[in-house]
Amino acid sequence: MAKHSYPQLLANKKVVISAGATKERIDPVRYITNDSSGKMGYAMATAATWLGADVTLVSSTQRLTAPINTHVIPFENALELQTAMETEAKQADYVMMVAAVSDYRVAHPQEQKIKKQHHQSNQLTLELIENPDILKGLAAQKNQQIMIGFAAETENLIEHAQAKLQRKKVDWIIANQVGKNHQTGFNTDDNQVTLLSANGERFPLPLMSKLETALAAWQIIAQTPLNK
Ligand code: CTP
Ligand code: CA
Repeated sequence: MAKHSYPQLLANKKVVISAGATKERIDPVRYITNDSSGKMGYAMATAATWLGADVTLVSSTQRLTAPINTHVIPFENALELQTAMETEAKQADYVMMVAAVSDYRVAHPQEQKIKKQHHQSNQLTLELIENPDILKGLAAQKNQQIMIGFAAETENLIEHAQAKLQRKKVDWIIANQVGKNHQTGFNTDDNQVTLLSANGERFPLPLMSKLETALAAWQIIAQTPLNK
């Protein structure tokens, strides 16, 4: 379908979306990361442009092609993502965190490659410290922005998503089941999500492509007034 056939529900709106996995450096050649391909975030960015938005994509992935007319800001780790999001969110109408943020970072990343500890114990302990909750921080500082988070869960999907909606004080959580036995979520082309609003409404969407999921999600978010 041509893009002009979509209702321009996000015309004149600035949308900021984070996408991809964080990489937390251990040393110059190693890092801690997670299973996020960035596909859902890129689909959200594409769908938002089709609905007329001015989109900024804060991204850690070089593998995917950004939708045309999108402003791309790169990040590698959680602290860089936080800085970029705090700057961009100020002028935004909608802020959506799709990035899979590492909950912890390496306490003392090494400037040189860590050598194997020959002739010593056969254990190595890596010290980790908690990263800030970026979404929670953005929601706490917000003015009029609509804040949207994701909850990728391997069990008790709706309960965990509902708890995140309240804990992070966001307007929407998009819940999706992930894990070995699911055809949806990380690195797949399809997804099945349920949108939970701060009003207490639930909008389950069918299993469909990430792009169709993104279009449906934006249409619900743009057209559902929130009582605040
Ligand atoms: N998120 C964030 N900053 C973090 C961790 C998560 O902004 N440090 C965002 C994610 O981008 C996502 C939402 O918060 O939009 C939920 O992420 P998730 O990892 O599911 O939530 P956590 O609060 O980290 O809870 P847990 O990992 O224990 O399930
Ligand atoms: Ca987490």
